[in-house]
Amino acid sequence: MIFGAIVAGGVGSRMKISKYPKQFLPLGNSKKPILIHTLEKFILCDKLDAIYIGVHKDWIDYTEELIAKYGLSSEKVVIVEGGKDRNLTIINIINAIEKKYGESENHILATHDAVRPFVTLKMIEDSINAAIECGASDTVISAVDTIVESTNHEFITSIPNRANMYQGQTPQGINMKKFKELYYDLSEEEKNIMTDACKVFVARNQPVKLVEGDVLNMKITTANDYKIANIIFEAEKND
Ligand code: CTP
Repeated sequence: MIFGAIVAGGVGSRMKISKYPKQFLPLGNSKKPILIHTLEKFILCDKLDAIYIGVHKDWIDYTEELIAKYGLSSEKVVIVEGGKDRNLTIINIINAIEKKYGESENHILATHDAVRPFVTLKMIEDSINAAIECGASDTVISAVDTIVESTNHEFITSIPNRANMYQGQTPQGINMKKFKELYYDLSEEEKNIMTDACKVFVARNQPVKLVEGDVLNMKITTANDYKIANIIFEAEKND
């Protein structure tokens, strides 16, 4: 079976413009929250047997109300409590899925940041297909800027060849069982530094296939990102 996992368990501490976590802020002139825009993209994907949303426990009731308000309540849209970091939110979603549908070697999860509302149906489907094919997939865009590494945060320590550099986005498609096994094999120290599902695969030398993303599939992290996202949203409406 194939499931969507929208991770919305964060509190948006870098945004600092509202008491609402950023996934609940409205996009452009629409009153509709970012999370609802993202959920609507996932609802378009008919490959998905159900869509799970991981939300901080303080925001579960509010999320339920929003989903009802926008007419999206259904058996296929399920809210679960988020975890203390992004991967633990994914683990909570996997546990909820396995409780209802049982474990399987073949369950695939299309994980996605709630705060990337410009995801396309094609990206969701491509990430699912690539994860079915090889176990995990990451949506990426080619790096346009030169990537400069500084391990001491003062001087450049290396400049990798830009032609081989990409920026990671989401969706990230994962084979659920494989992800769980790899995740539980990590040390506590590794778990603390791995906020990304694909990194768990890479850390254990498992293949992760690249899927083409888009610069518009941005992650809304800061107040400036939010301004840019509002402009993109209004511009896309007028296209
Ligand atoms: N996320 C999650 N569970 C967590 C932490 C983050 O599901 N415990 C989700 C966020 O809600 C977001 C995505 O992971 O959709 C990407 O994380 P990020 O942009 O870092 O969001 P926040 O953790 O909310 O932001 P910040 O780091 O600024 O607090």
